[in-house]
Amino acid sequence: MAVYANYAATSPALSPAVVKELCEYLGGVHLNAGRNFEGLEAEAIALRARRAIAGLFEVDDPLRVIFTSGATQSLNMVIHGLVRQGGHVLATSVEHNAAARPLENLRKNGVIELDWLQCGPDGSLDAEKVRNAIKKNTRLLVMTHASNVLGTILPVTESFRIAREHGVLTILDAAQTGGILPFTMGKCCDVLVFAGHKGLGGLAGTGGFVIGEAASGEMRPWMSGGTGSASHSLDMPDFMPDRFEPGTQNTIGILSLAASVEEILRTGVEKIRDRERGLSARFLSGLAGIKNLRPCGTLDPALSVPLVSVVVRGYDAGEVSRHLFEKYGIITRSGLHCSPLAHRSSGTFPGGTVRFSFGSGTKEKDIDATLEALAASSFHPKR
Ligand SMILES: Cc1ncc(COP(=O)(O)O)c(C=O)c1O
Repeated sequence: MAVYANYAATSPALSPAVVKELCEYLGGVHLNAGRNFEGLEAEAIALRARRAIAGLFEVDDPLRVIFTSGATQSLNMVIHGLVRQGGHVLATSVEHNAAARPLENLRKNGVIELDWLQCGPDGSLDAEKVRNAIKKNTRLLVMTHASNVLGTILPVTESFRIAREHGVLTILDAAQTGGILPFTMGKCCDVLVFAGHKGLGGLAGTGGFVIGEAASGEMRPWMSGGTGSASHSLDMPDFMPDRFEPGTQNTIGILSLAASVEEILRTGVEKIRDRERGLSARFLSGLAGIKNLRPCGTLDPALSVPLVSVVVRGYDAGEVSRHLFEKYGIITRSGLHCSPLAHRSSGTFPGGTVRFSFGSGTKEKDIDATLEALAASSFHPKR
């Protein structure tokens, strides 16, 4: 039986309750009478999803939840919308390319100055590095909540507190932690970016961001277009959420998020976190007894999200991943995981690692089967 150990990339299946809702929606007729008609279906679905996500991140105003096609689009929108010519931006050395590439592109084009805050080989960061790196023209701090390569949770609350004391705007990339770690956005950060298809359990092509008051006043719409509101003007509306939601929205995707996040709230994120930590702990302690494998990251499930990157000494990561899939039906993700920066930080560039990541459908027997497969594969040191 196949074992899916690639939750950090995407959740493999929607929950039965979500599928039921989506089927009912797909079987219906959807009349579009324009936006902003009270009670209209797409608006009502979006509001339901905004409320669920506002509940998840403990935000007061659901209209501050903006939907996009995912964390990548969100990061592009908020980074481009918040930077200014000549401004200095800080980001960590474990960012995903979804943040790193737009930042690097802005640097190459002479728009921003950019500095990477160096994390340790295990992905950890001393928040005081933020204080030392802030300059007079520092405008933005972009930080992933947890590395998608090492799993390590970054000290975001402390780092953002220091940044905000210096008037620096803060963006949190919560792609790896949404629905997996409890988090109160509150005054912690100015923008929180989420992916819909990972821990939030929605369809691929969903995600968004939650934007606080200070940032929404500063952020220029990076995408513009029709909103069905203030249509007399060639400018984007100045009210939320329309200011940042041009075009026809992905209602079926947004419905998947509404239904899935409501389910997460019913279960409780703490409960989800504790269960998945238990799976990581089981995996890590099993790995310790298998020769020639080197797990990367903090190796402490309490300090990380449920993923473990492994180096098999002397073996190509892709070769190991393929072997696990072809011989045992175990699905992992190998290589650089769209984060060359994190691999450079951990010393696993350019070879990469084999990443095992667990989620809502992972059972203890899946962990045990994976460990047995690794042990039986006897990866002997190559000369
Ligand atoms: C930390 C991090 N940020 C951003 C993304 C991009 O997410 P999306 O697929 O929603 O664009 C990912 C996806 O792997 C990620 O792990």
